[in-house]
Amino acid sequence: LPYLLAALLFGYLLGSIPFGLIFTRMAGLGDVRAIGSGNIGATNVLRTGRKGLAAATLLADALKGTVAVLVAAQWGPDTAILAGFGAFVGHLFPVWLKFKGGKGVATYLGVLLGLYWPAMLIFAAMWLVTAFVSRYSSLSALVASALTPFVLVLSGEWQAAELFAVLTALLFIAHRANIQRLVSGTEGRIGGAKS
Ligand code: G3P
Repeated sequence: LPYLLAALLFGYLLGSIPFGLIFTRMAGLGDVRAIGSGNIGATNVLRTGRKGLAAATLLADALKGTVAVLVAAQWGPDTAILAGFGAFVGHLFPVWLKFKGGKGVATYLGVLLGLYWPAMLIFAAMWLVTAFVSRYSSLSALVASALTPFVLVLSGEWQAAELFAVLTALLFIAHRANIQRLVSGTEGRIGGAKS
């Protein structure tokens, strides 16, 4: 049990580092939460017009999930799952930002990479196809994450499938404002001006 709790806490602490906020501040762009959708993730960092910063945010927010899983995997499979859960929850609810964090797409991707990388490739492919067709970042994440638990079940990755069923549910909750905007037709598109 101490190992499980340590893995959860370790994952949470890594996951709660808000790289989008840190990178945009370091670049002198002010608070990314004041622009676009107000989110701290790569999609909204891209709305500052800085592609490199957005890519760095995507990479760092993903890799914190991967690192949490791979480090905790040294202690056992259950700890890897818990660290991945902790990292995702840490990104969504960081104590440093009064529990108001990001929407979890990059970290979801990174945890998937650490636990079962083929499913990450399938997630990325589904995201890219949806984004290419729709130009909605949020919709692409919703589609790809809705299918990911099934991909894991079909791969025989039962433990990961259970984890990702939970992470997908949390991701949808984090995207509730995006879902409303998608339904009402007011969601901003990738490369568009508004949020
Ligand atoms: O990955 C986050 C994306 O799905 C939505 O971001 O900034 O458009 O709310 P944003």
